[in-house]
Amino acid sequence: MPFPITTSLNPKPIPEDVGNTFGAYFTDHMFLMDYKQGLGWYNHRIVPFGPLSLHPSCAAIQYGQSIFDGFKAYRCDDDVIRLFRPLDHIERINKSTARLCMPAVDPQSVLAAMVQLVDLDRRWVPRQKGTALYVRETMIGTEGLMGVRPASEYTFMIFLSPVGSYYAEGANPVSILVSDKHVRAARGGIGAAKAAANYGASLLASEEAKSMGYTQVLWLDSTERRFLEEVGTMNVMLRIGNEIITPPLSDSILAGVTRMTALALLREWGLQVSERPIDINDVMTGIGNGTIEEIWGVGTAAVVSPIGQLTYRGQTLEVGARRIGKVTARLHAAITSLHTQPGKDPYGWRVDVI
Ligand code: COI
Repeated sequence: MPFPITTSLNPKPIPEDVGNTFGAYFTDHMFLMDYKQGLGWYNHRIVPFGPLSLHPSCAAIQYGQSIFDGFKAYRCDDDVIRLFRPLDHIERINKSTARLCMPAVDPQSVLAAMVQLVDLDRRWVPRQKGTALYVRETMIGTEGLMGVRPASEYTFMIFLSPVGSYYAEGANPVSILVSDKHVRAARGGIGAAKAAANYGASLLASEEAKSMGYTQVLWLDSTERRFLEEVGTMNVMLRIGNEIITPPLSDSILAGVTRMTALALLREWGLQVSERPIDINDVMTGIGNGTIEEIWGVGTAAVVSPIGQLTYRGQTLEVGARRIGKVTARLHAAITSLHTQPGKDPYGWRVDVI
């Protein structure tokens, strides 16, 4: 569906190097559409990137009706810009909105808006290895209200940020503190939705961990504080021999798109992949006796991030001598090549921006 485009009269200079930044820059334009109960989505538009005007008592600010998602567009080696698995992210948006009593979006029209926006701001897609254009989608409840109930009005937006590595360590092993005090999400809660509130809930534990010199925290389940859930903002995986194990999805674990990508590749390589609960005590024993040689996180922002050191209840163990393990390295290389190599799209995951 065609919609109006207002181009920026003051296009910004493109940053020379985004290598070690994540969210330091925003492009010139954004896509917006509004929703009203009874009317549906309307007022689709691309406008110059800038501030929003909001009712101070809107549902997003007061009661947390705010969800987001994000994926990356890559400038491939043939100079074609490609979105990686955008429809999987849009599908997840609709899972998040359903959990927070927010309206669904139409996948094909949102995909068309993404392509149009990235095309308009294509000069912002960085070229250096390890960089990308991060495409952030957000939906907020905009109706001003005071009683706790779902809003009847919403705004959905898409904006763009050229990014480099998420962690200062890049793809090098990070040090992780197992959090047995705070949890990221509770059983029955909103952990499986990409709700802004989940990220707010994670801040205290990660700030405490950072102040002690760790990069992030490993989250345990909310009931027993025993089973692995996620690491930082990523899903977690580990290898014992030829078996790759990752926690099964639940209502407190986000269904990561990079998790799906990694599992598809690992299965294709003939490795035994198990989605089963992982007890932190078994992890510490396995690292200690050398049966667990590698642990890593997978997520859109950092892609594949090896864990080089784990601290749990005062005990610190090095994983794989703090070196990136063979499956972690292979996954990193394979996913990166699916992102950036021309002609390499065996699963039909990419959408070209042409
Ligand atoms: C991801 O790595 O997938 C994330 O969700 C990170 C994002 C919150 C910046």
